Amino acid sequence: MINGKHHVIITGTGHAVPTRVLSNLDLEQMVDTSDEWIRTRTGILRRRIADEHTATSDLATEAGRLALADAGVSPDELDLIIVATITPDMLFPSTSCLVQKNLGAWGAACYDLSAGCSGLIYGLDMAVRSIVSGGYRRALVIGADCVSKITNFQDRTTCVLFGDGAGACLVEAADKAGVLASYLGADGSGWDKLLLRGGGSRHPASAATLAAGWHYIEMCGNDVFKFAVRIMVEASLKVLADAGLEPGDIDLFIPHQANIRIIESAAQRLNLKEDQVYINVDEYGNTSAASIGIALDEAVRSGRIKGGDRILLVGFGAGLTWGAMIIEWVDKA
Ligand code: ACO
Repeated sequence: MINGKHHVIITGTGHAVPTRVLSNLDLEQMVDTSDEWIRTRTGILRRRIADEHTATSDLATEAGRLALADAGVSPDELDLIIVATITPDMLFPSTSCLVQKNLGAWGAACYDLSAGCSGLIYGLDMAVRSIVSGGYRRALVIGADCVSKITNFQDRTTCVLFGDGAGACLVEAADKAGVLASYLGADGSGWDKLLLRGGGSRHPASAATLAAGWHYIEMCGNDVFKFAVRIMVEASLKVLADAGLEPGDIDLFIPHQANIRIIESAAQRLNLKEDQVYINVDEYGNTSAASIGIALDEAVRSGRIKGGDRILLVGFGAGLTWGAMIIEWVDKA
């Protein structure tokens, strides 16, 4: 229960990833890297890459459709669609409006939010608080990114890390359990640790921005790594305290899937056991705003999450931003 008022639960989940697989061995042919380096430094074995006809809204729509089907809710029952993404189809209109059109969810208000890999938790927090306020009853929250579209496949320090995908959650008011605590944070002084410099109003797209490669993701990997471990632990402890829980009370920890070493360091500092931690970074790499949604959907559909389980979601990303949420899972009636 948030705000001592309403309960908000996730009634449906879905995810979508492109069919094309890019393995570490494929990357060995493209840049000066090795399967061994990528595996030991990141835990990633392969990732999915969208083809030239697929954009973020396509994956977001598919994930959203699956979440609606899972919940047995039709698109015209939606009040709100939030798409968290750093790779919108275009700067405007919002990708959420394109998803609304694709789904035919004509009664839904729509907006995008940009919080990097914290995006799904930001979206869930916004949806939960909108529902708690009594303003909306049903929201579709989708984290979706095609980071491959802004990746320089000649830059080995970034191109081995990312993959494409979308994860969606249908969020509804309920009379029991659900979201127990939610916390978001940001530190804009870290804006230059992870960014896409060109194409906005600061540096409009031009021949010069193209020549400089400002249409590609830039990252200070080491700084982000240290920030990630620290903030995942801090944010987790904050929501645990807010919910009156200890790390041992958590049935499944679903961290943002960026790097196995970040996940293991955070899990170790939180004294979590191996079987409390969900990992699929090996299969998908870092899918940015999609990662937590993909992991949550996989965990639910594989039976790893059951009614009554307490789930801790935690993410960090560009901004810099972070977020954590604890959910007491409710099985469908
Ligand atoms: N293959 C081979 N060697 C490489 C590669 C590669 N793909 N990439 C870097 N190296 C080299 C470097 O050049 C460096 O060589 P040097 O010592 O001769 O200079 C060496 O490997 C070590 O590089 P580091 O950057 O120190 O390696 P590190 O262990 O820190 O790993 C990594 C780098 C994987 C990027 C790590 O820092 C990391 O995961 N950071 C967090 C990134 C992240 O999570 N980003 C997403 C945030 S979420 C969002 O909002 C999108």
